[in-house]
Amino acid sequence: MELSKSETLINLAKSFAGEAQAGLRYQFSAELALNQGYKILSDEIKALAKNEVNHAKVFFQAITDGAGELDNIEFTAGYPFKGTTLENGLKFAIEAERDEAHIYEKYAEIAINEGFDEIAKKFKMIAAVERRHADIFNSLYEDFTSGNLYDAKEPKMWICSECGHIETAVTAWSVCPLCSSTQGFVELKLQ
Ligand SMILES: [Fe+2]
Ligand SMILES: [Fe+2]
Repeated sequence: MELSKSETLINLAKSFAGEAQAGLRYQFSAELALNQGYKILSDEIKALAKNEVNHAKVFFQAITDGAGELDNIEFTAGYPFKGTTLENGLKFAIEAERDEAHIYEKYAEIAINEGFDEIAKKFKMIAAVERRHADIFNSLYEDFTSGNLYDAKEPKMWICSECGHIETAVTAWSVCPLCSSTQGFVELKLQ
């Protein structure tokens, strides 16, 4: 089957649009985090935003490699407009990542049925990334909303992203005793 006549082409186009928007929504959330003084949280979200932009690139390339440059791909799809606060952005991202993983598994099956094994592999690999993203967002959301971003269950090593100061404790410092950076610069216990 030619990619230009397949359902997979439409699925790739929808996925491209979804990834591009997720990348941008996360950049908005990262900006909100930075404005509130959560430098490292902002960096974490930015790293995830970068992943999404690169997923969009994978989908874009799959389209242009398989069908050439196209003037227009028409499809009907709905996209969310949520995450006006940092809390909402983190919360919605968990749901969105899980949904994406589920949809990409479905798209992978369709791609296999249409004979696009390489594209199916990409959908599956990206689905795995999105499942991990969901876990990261879940952890960030829970720690952020419970005020435990800088608390651990057991003593752990905290590192200041600015000066590298290290302390092993249950709770990170509020102000770095070495360089006076605020808690927002303490590296998070993720990944
Ligand atoms: Fe993605
Ligand atoms: Fe993701």
